[in-house]
Amino acid sequence: PSGVRDLLLSRITDVADYPKPGVMFKDITPLLADPKAFGALTDALVALAGQYGATKIVGLEARGFILAAPVAVQAGIGFVPVRKAGKLPGATLLQSYDLEYGSAEIEIHAEALCADDRVMVIDDVLATGGTAAASLELIRRAGAEVAGVAVLMELSFLPGRERLAPTLGDAPLDALIVV
Ligand code: PRP
Ligand code: MG
Repeated sequence: PSGVRDLLLSRITDVADYPKPGVMFKDITPLLADPKAFGALTDALVALAGQYGATKIVGLEARGFILAAPVAVQAGIGFVPVRKAGKLPGATLLQSYDLEYGSAEIEIHAEALCADDRVMVIDDVLATGGTAAASLELIRRAGAEVAGVAVLMELSFLPGRERLAPTLGDAPLDALIVV
Protein backbone atom coordinates (compact mmCIF):
# COMPACT_ATOMS: atom_id res chain seq x y z
CA PRO A 1 0.00 0.00 0.00
CA SER A 2 1.20 3.53 -0.81
CA GLY A 3 0.68 4.59 2.83
CA VAL A 4 3.42 2.18 3.86
CA ARG A 5 5.68 3.38 1.04
CA ASP A 6 5.21 7.00 2.10
CA LEU A 7 5.93 6.11 5.74
CA LEU A 8 9.13 4.26 4.80
CA LEU A 9 10.23 7.03 2.44
CA SER A 10 9.66 9.66 5.13
CA ARG A 11 12.10 7.84 7.44
CA ILE A 12 14.99 7.58 4.96
CA THR A 13 17.34 10.56 4.98
CA ASP A 14 19.53 11.85 2.15
CA VAL A 15 23.11 12.55 3.19
CA ALA A 16 25.07 14.45 0.54
CA ASP A 17 28.70 13.60 -0.29
CA TYR A 18 28.85 10.44 1.86
CA PRO A 19 30.89 8.23 1.81
CA LYS A 20 32.61 10.31 -0.88
CA PRO A 21 32.00 13.54 -2.82
CA GLY A 22 29.18 13.33 -5.35
CA VAL A 23 27.41 10.38 -3.66
CA MET A 24 23.97 10.84 -2.08
CA PHE A 25 23.82 8.33 0.79
CA LYS A 26 20.43 6.91 1.79
CA ASP A 27 20.45 6.68 5.60
CA ILE A 28 17.96 4.15 6.99
CA THR A 29 18.82 4.68 10.67
CA PRO A 30 15.79 7.01 11.24
CA LEU A 31 13.56 4.21 9.92
CA LEU A 32 15.17 1.67 12.27
CA ALA A 33 14.65 4.05 15.19
CA ASP A 34 10.91 4.35 14.49
CA PRO A 35 9.13 1.17 15.64
CA LYS A 36 6.02 1.98 13.56
CA ALA A 37 8.05 2.29 10.36
CA PHE A 38 10.36 -0.65 11.16
CA GLY A 39 7.28 -2.73 12.02
CA ALA A 40 5.54 -1.77 8.76
CA LEU A 41 8.69 -2.67 6.81
CA THR A 42 8.92 -6.02 8.60
CA ASP A 43 5.23 -6.75 7.94
CA ALA A 44 5.65 -5.96 4.22
CA LEU A 45 8.67 -8.27 3.95
CA VAL A 46 6.91 -11.05 5.89
CA ALA A 47 4.03 -10.81 3.39
CA LEU A 48 6.51 -11.22 0.52
CA ALA A 49 8.10 -14.23 2.29
CA GLY A 50 4.63 -15.78 2.28
CA GLN A 51 4.12 -15.01 -1.42
CA TYR A 52 7.50 -16.53 -2.24
CA GLY A 53 6.80 -19.64 -0.18
CA ALA A 54 10.16 -19.05 1.50
CA THR A 55 11.57 -21.70 3.84
CA LYS A 56 14.71 -19.70 4.75
CA ILE A 57 15.60 -16.02 4.99
CA VAL A 58 19.09 -15.01 3.88
CA GLY A 59 20.27 -11.59 5.08
CA LEU A 60 23.26 -9.84 3.52
CA GLU A 61 25.85 -8.38 5.89
CA ALA A 62 25.62 -5.85 7.36
CA ARG A 63 22.53 -3.74 6.76
CA GLY A 64 20.60 -6.68 5.33
CA PHE A 65 20.97 -8.47 8.68
CA ILE A 66 19.03 -5.74 10.46
CA LEU A 67 16.06 -5.97 8.11
CA ALA A 68 16.08 -9.74 7.62
CA ALA A 69 16.31 -11.02 11.19
CA PRO A 70 12.90 -9.75 12.40
CA VAL A 71 11.32 -11.06 9.18
CA ALA A 72 12.65 -14.56 9.86
CA VAL A 73 11.36 -14.49 13.44
CA GLN A 74 7.94 -13.12 12.47
CA ALA A 75 7.60 -15.55 9.53
CA GLY A 76 8.66 -18.43 11.78
CA ILE A 77 11.45 -19.60 9.47
CA GLY A 78 15.22 -19.83 9.84
CA PHE A 79 17.71 -17.01 9.29
CA VAL A 80 20.95 -17.68 7.41
CA PRO A 81 23.68 -15.03 7.20
CA VAL A 82 25.71 -14.25 4.09
CA ARG A 83 28.84 -12.70 5.57
CA LYS A 84 31.83 -10.78 4.31
CA ALA A 85 34.65 -13.32 3.87
CA GLY A 86 36.50 -14.64 6.91
CA LYS A 87 33.75 -14.34 9.53
CA LEU A 88 32.04 -17.74 9.47
CA PRO A 89 33.59 -20.55 11.53
CA GLY A 90 32.40 -23.61 9.59
CA ALA A 91 33.02 -24.91 6.08
CA THR A 92 32.02 -22.14 3.67
CA LEU A 93 31.38 -21.38 0.04
CA LEU A 94 32.99 -18.13 -1.18
CA GLN A 95 31.90 -15.83 -3.99
CA SER A 96 33.85 -12.86 -5.37
CA TYR A 97 32.17 -9.95 -7.09
CA ASP A 98 33.19 -6.64 -8.64
CA LEU A 99 32.75 -3.31 -6.93
CA GLU A 100 33.05 0.11 -8.53
CA TYR A 101 36.72 -0.02 -7.53
CA GLY A 102 38.22 -3.43 -6.81
CA SER A 103 36.31 -6.48 -5.64
CA ALA A 104 34.73 -8.06 -2.57
CA GLU A 105 34.14 -11.57 -1.23
CA ILE A 106 31.16 -12.99 0.63
CA GLU A 107 30.56 -16.40 2.19
CA ILE A 108 27.80 -18.72 3.36
CA HIS A 109 28.03 -21.82 5.50
CA ALA A 110 28.09 -24.72 3.05
CA GLU A 111 25.65 -26.76 5.18
CA ALA A 112 23.22 -23.93 5.99
CA LEU A 113 20.75 -24.73 3.20
CA CYS A 114 19.33 -27.93 1.78
CA ALA A 115 17.95 -29.02 -1.57
CA ASP A 116 14.30 -28.40 -0.70
CA ASP A 117 14.92 -24.91 0.69
CA ARG A 118 13.28 -21.96 -1.06
CA VAL A 119 15.33 -18.94 -0.08
CA MET A 120 14.29 -15.31 0.23
CA VAL A 121 17.18 -12.83 0.07
CA ILE A 122 16.78 -9.54 1.93
CA ASP A 123 18.97 -6.44 1.71
CA ASP A 124 18.48 -2.73 2.24
CA VAL A 125 19.57 -1.38 -1.14
CA LEU A 126 19.90 -2.66 -4.69
CA ALA A 127 22.53 -0.42 -6.31
CA THR A 128 24.70 -2.07 -8.99
CA GLY A 129 23.26 -5.48 -8.11
CA GLY A 130 26.69 -7.01 -7.52
CA THR A 131 26.09 -8.00 -3.90
CA ALA A 132 22.69 -9.53 -4.60
CA ALA A 133 23.93 -11.42 -7.67
CA ALA A 134 26.83 -12.92 -5.70
CA SER A 135 24.46 -14.00 -2.91
CA LEU A 136 22.23 -15.82 -5.42
CA GLU A 137 25.26 -17.68 -6.75
CA LEU A 138 26.08 -18.78 -3.19
CA ILE A 139 22.52 -19.97 -2.51
CA ARG A 140 22.47 -22.07 -5.66
CA ARG A 141 25.98 -23.42 -5.02
CA ALA A 142 24.74 -24.40 -1.54
CA GLY A 143 22.13 -26.51 -3.33
CA ALA A 144 18.98 -24.48 -2.64
CA GLU A 145 16.44 -22.66 -4.78
CA VAL A 146 16.16 -18.85 -4.93
CA ALA A 147 12.52 -18.01 -4.13
CA GLY A 148 12.90 -14.24 -4.47
CA VAL A 149 14.89 -11.14 -3.63
CA ALA A 150 13.42 -8.23 -1.67
CA VAL A 151 15.06 -4.89 -0.97
CA LEU A 152 13.84 -1.85 0.87
CA MET A 153 15.16 0.47 -1.83
CA GLU A 154 16.06 0.14 -5.49
CA LEU A 155 18.24 2.89 -6.98
CA SER A 156 16.64 3.27 -10.41
CA PHE A 157 19.46 5.45 -11.77
CA LEU A 158 21.77 2.41 -11.58
CA PRO A 159 21.39 -0.73 -13.71
CA GLY A 160 21.06 -3.10 -10.74
CA ARG A 161 17.85 -4.74 -11.92
CA GLU A 162 19.36 -5.36 -15.39
CA ARG A 163 22.58 -6.71 -13.92
CA LEU A 164 20.69 -9.04 -11.59
CA ALA A 165 18.22 -10.29 -14.23
CA PRO A 166 20.31 -13.12 -15.75
CA THR A 167 21.20 -14.46 -12.29
CA LEU A 168 17.67 -14.01 -11.01
CA GLY A 169 16.08 -16.08 -13.79
CA ASP A 170 12.37 -16.56 -13.04
CA ALA A 171 12.61 -15.51 -9.39
CA PRO A 172 10.95 -12.21 -8.44
CA LEU A 173 12.78 -9.04 -7.42
CA ASP A 174 10.66 -6.77 -5.22
CA ALA A 175 11.62 -3.26 -4.12
CA LEU A 176 9.38 -1.60 -1.54
CA ILE A 177 10.64 1.81 -2.65
CA VAL A 178 12.15 2.87 -5.97
CA VAL A 179 14.20 6.06 -5.83
C1 PRP B 1 25.63 -1.75 0.48
C2 PRP B 1 24.16 -2.03 0.64
C3 PRP B 1 23.96 -3.27 -0.21
C4 PRP B 1 24.98 -3.07 -1.33
C5 PRP B 1 24.31 -2.62 -2.59
O1 PRP B 1 26.35 -2.61 1.33
O2 PRP B 1 23.85 -2.30 2.00
O3 PRP B 1 24.28 -4.45 0.49
O4 PRP B 1 25.89 -2.06 -0.88
O5 PRP B 1 25.27 -2.35 -3.57
P1 PRP B 1 25.38 -3.15 -4.91
O6 PRP B 1 23.97 -3.42 -5.41
O7 PRP B 1 26.11 -2.21 -5.79
O8 PRP B 1 26.14 -4.42 -4.65
P2 PRP B 1 27.84 -2.35 1.83
O9 PRP B 1 28.66 -3.54 1.48
O10 PRP B 1 28.32 -1.02 1.30
O11 PRP B 1 27.80 -2.12 3.38
P3 PRP B 1 27.01 -2.72 4.64
O12 PRP B 1 27.96 -3.71 5.26
O13 PRP B 1 26.80 -1.49 5.49
O14 PRP B 1 25.72 -3.34 4.27
MG1 MG C 1 25.05 -4.05 2.44
